[in-house]
Amino acid sequence: MNTNNDEKMVILGGVKLSGEVRISGAKNSAVAILVASILVGDKCVIENVPHVSDIVDLIEIINGLGGRAEFVGEDVIEVDCSELKSHVATGERVRRIRASSYLMGALLGRLKRASVDLPGGCNFGVRPIDQHIKGFEALGAYVDIEYGTVNITADSLRGNTVYMDVVSVGATIDVMLAAVLADGLTVIDSAAKEPHVVDVANFLNSMGADIRGAGTDVIRIRGVESLHGGTFSVIPDQIEAGTFMIAAAATGGDVTVTNIIPTHMESLTAKLEEMGVGIEEFDEAIRVYVDKPKLRRCNVKTQPYPGFPTDLQPQMLALLTAANGTSIMKENVWENRFEYVPQLNRMGASINVEGTDVAVVEGGSKLIGAPVCATDLRAGAALVIAALMADGVTEIYNLKYIDRGYEKLVEKLRGLGAQVTRRCVNPMPEVLRAVNE
Ligand code: EPZ
Repeated sequence: MNTNNDEKMVILGGVKLSGEVRISGAKNSAVAILVASILVGDKCVIENVPHVSDIVDLIEIINGLGGRAEFVGEDVIEVDCSELKSHVATGERVRRIRASSYLMGALLGRLKRASVDLPGGCNFGVRPIDQHIKGFEALGAYVDIEYGTVNITADSLRGNTVYMDVVSVGATIDVMLAAVLADGLTVIDSAAKEPHVVDVANFLNSMGADIRGAGTDVIRIRGVESLHGGTFSVIPDQIEAGTFMIAAAATGGDVTVTNIIPTHMESLTAKLEEMGVGIEEFDEAIRVYVDKPKLRRCNVKTQPYPGFPTDLQPQMLALLTAANGTSIMKENVWENRFEYVPQLNRMGASINVEGTDVAVVEGGSKLIGAPVCATDLRAGAALVIAALMADGVTEIYNLKYIDRGYEKLVEKLRGLGAQVTRRCVNPMPEVLRAVNE
């Protein structure tokens, strides 16, 4: 995988996608499970892991802590943290990914102390960790943030009730990690219910943890003495699946996404059907097809699971540019997730952002290929979808974001008939440099 930012994606639009695409393992689940394996003093084999740059970064981080992690097959990682000694995770790799926040909970649970640089990740405004800290403190830890590093120590960890003030995937998983080996019962109230929260709990349970209620508002974790090794397979990626479903609809195509869990897709399939997109569900696949000349407008609000995922908001906004009439997108999870909108407007879209959380899309304008710049991972996916819909050639810059979360995107799109390639950048157009800085 080439993760350098010296490449651009070049897409000739106008092709209706058709055929079958196999969805990879869930990136947001795999990153958490990889870190969770720090709690296991034994070898874990993790299957169905996507080969994306966030995973590569985490492998390096775990190896730097004294664990051993490596890809032993195309999508299989072996990780053995029995010798892991260091509680200090600092440096550029830690700072650039959000999932490094899980190192706090996992190192605290395993070593009773952690020093972790404040996690980075995509920039949607402030990304606080107060709920993580509140959870660690409830378990008896002391937390101190100094020069951008979170230092956490505990003499011992004791189960407690943690009420989350906001529904947070990261804080729910982090507190779960800290509580697995603590003494007694921890209750997480107002927990996140995302499929990857459930997957992390299933992973830990399969290694000997006692976690109940994952997937509901209340998760109960009874601490155990230790965890044992084993083999676990990561769930399919809900967001990658949704991205391909939206791309199929946006190009007026006929695509079957396979290796998915259709119930995870319900909030999206409901919206696509509302727009007039054809949906056919199978046990582990969904066919998406368009047999109408024009799609209907619709309004969308992002919500924690089982609501419409914020991580499909940019892709959906790209699709809404093709619908008949005015659609409204309301972002309820992140305070500022419309930074990419000017890039879509560069391609001829007519989208107005009101305040920081509402985008109004005047549908029906034909998109035209242009040089554009990904501003984060899912924004990059939205630009790919817009490029597939557009007349002419689009060049997408800043591929480092897309490489964080989409495995073999170019190959998969080509398999559906798209005209897409990656080429060296020389140089990035002047007009995009400010966006890239
Ligand atoms: C996870 O981020 C995902 N990342 C994000 O996906 C996703 O957008 C997000 O969940 C929401 O679904 C990973 O799983 C690695 P949160 P996370 O904690 O855990 C507020 C992608 O594109 N909050 O659920 O960081 C926060 O500001 C990425 O794959 C607090 O106030 O998100 C936000 O408004 C981007 N205090 C809301 O909660 C806290 O301590 C939800 O955030 C924590 C969060």
